[in-house]
Amino acid sequence: MDSNKSSPWSFILPSFLLCLSLCIHLCLGTDKLDANQSLSGNETLTSLGGDFVLGFFTPGKSSYSYIGIWYNKVREQTIVWVANRDNPVTDRYSTELKILDGNLIIVNGSQVPVWSTNLRTSSSGSSSMVAVLGDDGNFALKDGPNSSVTLWQSFDHMTHTWLPGAKLEINKRKNTVLTSWKNAEDPSTGLFSLQLQPSNEYFILWNMSFRYYTTGKWDSKNKVYENVPELKANTIFDFIFVDNENESYFTYRRKDGSTTPSRFVMDLSGQMQMLSWLPSQQWNMF
Ligand SMILES: *[C@@H]1O[C@H](CO)[C@@H](O)[C@H](O)[C@H]1NC(C)=O
Ligand SMILES: *[C@@H]1O[C@H](CO)[C@@H](O)[C@H](O)[C@H]1NC(C)=O
Ligand SMILES: *[C@@H]1O[C@H](CO)[C@@H](O)[C@H](O)[C@H]1NC(C)=O
Ligand SMILES: *[C@@H]1O[C@H](CO)[C@@H](O)[C@H](O)[C@H]1NC(C)=O
Ligand SMILES: *[C@@H]1O[C@H](CO)[C@@H](O)[C@H](O)[C@H]1NC(C)=O
Ligand SMILES: *[C@@H]1O[C@H](CO)[C@@H](O)[C@H](O)[C@H]1NC(C)=O
Repeated sequence: MDSNKSSPWSFILPSFLLCLSLCIHLCLGTDKLDANQSLSGNETLTSLGGDFVLGFFTPGKSSYSYIGIWYNKVREQTIVWVANRDNPVTDRYSTELKILDGNLIIVNGSQVPVWSTNLRTSSSGSSSMVAVLGDDGNFALKDGPNSSVTLWQSFDHMTHTWLPGAKLEINKRKNTVLTSWKNAEDPSTGLFSLQLQPSNEYFILWNMSFRYYTTGKWDSKNKVYENVPELKANTIFDFIFVDNENESYFTYRRKDGSTTPSRFVMDLSGQMQMLSWLPSQQWNMF
C-alpha cells in the first residue's frame, strides 16, 4: 500500500476530484435544479434571460444565511423573496437546497430540514421533478422540465415583496400576506403586514391584528382604491383586479411591457412602497 503514495495516481486523482467538484459548482450555472442536484455555498441559479438569481445570501453583518432571490442586474443586492426567513442557517457550505420526496427542502449540515415546501404528496415524488427560476422572479416546482403543472411556486408564498405578475389573492384556499422584515439585517417575519380582505380592500396590520391603514374599496371604473387616488396618476403600471367564481386577486404589470426591475415592498416602517429601477442605477419610489 505504501508504494501507492509514490504512484502518479495519488497526485492525479485528488486533482481530478478537485476539478470535478469545481465543475459541479460552476456547472450549476443554470436556471433549474433537478431531482439529482443540490445547491449550497456560493452556487446560484440564474433565470434564462438573466434577470434574477437564486442562492444563499447574508444580510449585512448578520451571521446567518438564507436562500433568497434577488435581481441579477441591480448592483446593490435587492432581495425579493426569502425561503427560510424564520429558520436561518449558520453555514451555507454545509446547507443544501434540494428536491426530496416530492418537496423542495433546505437541510442544514446535520441533514436536519430547516425549510420545506410542505406539499402533501402520496408518492415520494418523481425523479423528473425540477425547480425552475423564471425571468419574472418566480421559483416554481414542477413535475417535469416541460410540465405545465406547477406543484408549488414562490409567487404563492410572497415574503415582503410583490413582483409584477404575482397575484395578491384572497379565496378559500389562501390569503396572500406581505410581511415586512424584522430589521435590515433580519428577514424574519416582522410586525407590519398587508392583507387583502374579503371586501377586496387592503388592510395594513400591525402584529397581524391592529389595523392602521386601509386602501378603501376598489373602484373598477377608475382603477383606483378609494384612499389611493395616486394609483391613477401612475404612468408606469397597469393594475388588474380579477374577481370571479374561482379566484379573487389583484395583480399588476408594467405598461411598457419591459422587464425593468419593479416591485412593491412592505418596508420596515410599515409603509407600502412602489419602486422602479432607473437607468441612473437607483430605485425610484412613487
Ligand atoms: C437522476 O438519477 C436517476 C438515478 O441515477 C436517473 O434515473 C434519473 O434519470 C436522473 N434524473 C435526472 C433529471 O437527471
Ligand atoms: C464565496 O463567496 C464569498 C463572497 O463573494 C467569497 O468571499 C468566498 O471566498 C467564496 N467561497 C468560495 C468557497 O468560493
Ligand atoms: C441543524 O439543526 C438542528 C436543529 O435545529 C441543530 O440541532 C443542529 O445543530 C443544526 N446543524 C448544523 C450543522 O447547524
Ligand atoms: C422540453 O421542450 C424543449 C423545447 O420544446 C425540447 O427541446 C425538449 O426536448 C423537451 N424536453 C423533454 C424532457 O421533453
Ligand atoms: C403581538 O401579538 C402577540 C399575541 O398575538 C403578543 O403575544 C405579542 O406580544 C405582540 N407583539 C408585540 C410587539 O406587541
Ligand atoms: C372556474 O373553474 C372552472 C373549473 O376549472 C372552469 O370551468 C371555469 O371556466 C372557471 N371560471 C372562470 C371565470 O375562470
